[in-house]
Amino acid sequence: MDLSLQSGSIADIDTPMAVIGVFADEELPALLGDLVTRDDFGGRWKKTLLLVADGRRLKARKVMLVGLGKRAEATAERMRRAYALATIRARDAGIMQFAVALPEIPELDRDALLRAVADGVLLASYTFDQFKGAATQQRGEPAARVERVTLVGEGDPAVVELARTVFTGVKLARDLGNEPPGVCTPTRLADVAREIAERGGMQLTVLDREQMQELGMGGMLGVSQAAHEPPKFIVLEYGRQGQGRTIALVGKGITFDSGGISIKPAEKMDLMKMDMAGAAAVLGTMSVLAELKLSNVHVIGIVCATENLPGGGAFKPGDILRAMNGVTMEIINTDAEGRLVLADGLSYAQRYEPDAIIDLATLTGAVVVALGTHITGMITNNAELAAHVRAAGERTGELVWELPLLPEYREAIRSKIADIKNSAGRNAGSIIGGAFLEHFVHGRPWVHLDIAGTAWIEEPPKPEDQPKPYLTRGATGVGVRLLIDLLQRYAGAA
Ligand code: BES
Ligand code: ZN
Ligand code: MN
Repeated sequence: MDLSLQSGSIADIDTPMAVIGVFADEELPALLGDLVTRDDFGGRWKKTLLLVADGRRLKARKVMLVGLGKRAEATAERMRRAYALATIRARDAGIMQFAVALPEIPELDRDALLRAVADGVLLASYTFDQFKGAATQQRGEPAARVERVTLVGEGDPAVVELARTVFTGVKLARDLGNEPPGVCTPTRLADVAREIAERGGMQLTVLDREQMQELGMGGMLGVSQAAHEPPKFIVLEYGRQGQGRTIALVGKGITFDSGGISIKPAEKMDLMKMDMAGAAAVLGTMSVLAELKLSNVHVIGIVCATENLPGGGAFKPGDILRAMNGVTMEIINTDAEGRLVLADGLSYAQRYEPDAIIDLATLTGAVVVALGTHITGMITNNAELAAHVRAAGERTGELVWELPLLPEYREAIRSKIADIKNSAGRNAGSIIGGAFLEHFVHGRPWVHLDIAGTAWIEEPPKPEDQPKPYLTRGATGVGVRLLIDLLQRYAGAA
């Protein structure tokens, strides 16, 4: 999708459709003339109205009004949602090119407002249709894609450029999450990393099974034991040691999680193709870094990629695996595999003596029970880093909520015959997952983001029933916008 910024008035733009925001507690904009009355359109939050223009005050052929709610309640997140909804409505109406009048909201930071509108339009324009085939064509379903949007008003073009660049990373993360598990394999993730490394001039290391053996990566090796697809341990390095802070990003990259010998029920098992969403967020972020060229930061992107499958050679409940840092892990449940591969990912990150470690993982079903799909679970050993992550979440709308890592939870995973066990039953499952991972961060500032609830979204029957219309169905690409925002600020670049 082609997004651009143009100064001037929406009235003068020759376009198939003009999108105009209307506040619920104000008069309609004068340029609407007598196209519509206040009674016809109240400006209520989440309302949209499509009108045929009369060519008098506006050059546009059609006008879409979008309700912005009460002016005093306007936030960047609300604007992101409103203009995303307008974008979806436009597409559903078959309007693939349109112009958006930037709203005037002096109470909001100008750049943040422009960014929110740009993000809303870009994120909502995402579609995943590469696997639609002949039958879709035979049914005559048009491939509906928003092609070109012009934002009209005053603003900094660099803000729109940044939004576009970050969106390419979100799109990559969504695409990888949506791809079938037979396509998005560990090898595919390594290929994507190679493309990023070449484009961004980054260092790339891809370890195969043999090299993992040499390093003693028992977690990666155990989980991948019955996988037919070769596992890959992927390391991308942006910048150099000593160039600003060193931040390690570690992503869970289970390209299909069947549960292994502790096999999952058949129902919704197909969803487990997205168990690499953490890896997708890391790759999406590194892909954006390849374009942004932040000068004052050193970022290590680590992806622990393998399938988790059953088979005659599979690792078993009762097995004991030794992670790269020497910690031994008793397997209670082969379906608690994310923490096993992350054990090696986090251990490997220690090589870089990172100032901060952030891991992203679709780690537990328990986090979906606790928080649902609207907010990511966070577990941390460092309040300052956590505050930065929380703030980045609030700026981007990718909210996080801290779960308490009380000392008591650490007791629960103590093993009788190994150091720790990989499952401690149903209670506090997400915190227990965090307590497990803590053994591999060696006391460094660390945040664990459990994105099991936020990485995927089902489509509601009506777009207005989706609280965040900018989240298109399927993989959300969660994490990319948060991490880029964090790296820009925390790393001191913005
Ligand atoms: N990948 C799953 C978690 C998951 C659940 C992700 C739902 C996305 C949506 C993870 O590997 C898993 O199976 N976790 C187990 C852990 C348990 C065995 C300790 C779970 O949540 O049941
Ligand atoms: Zn999993
Ligand atoms: Mn699992």
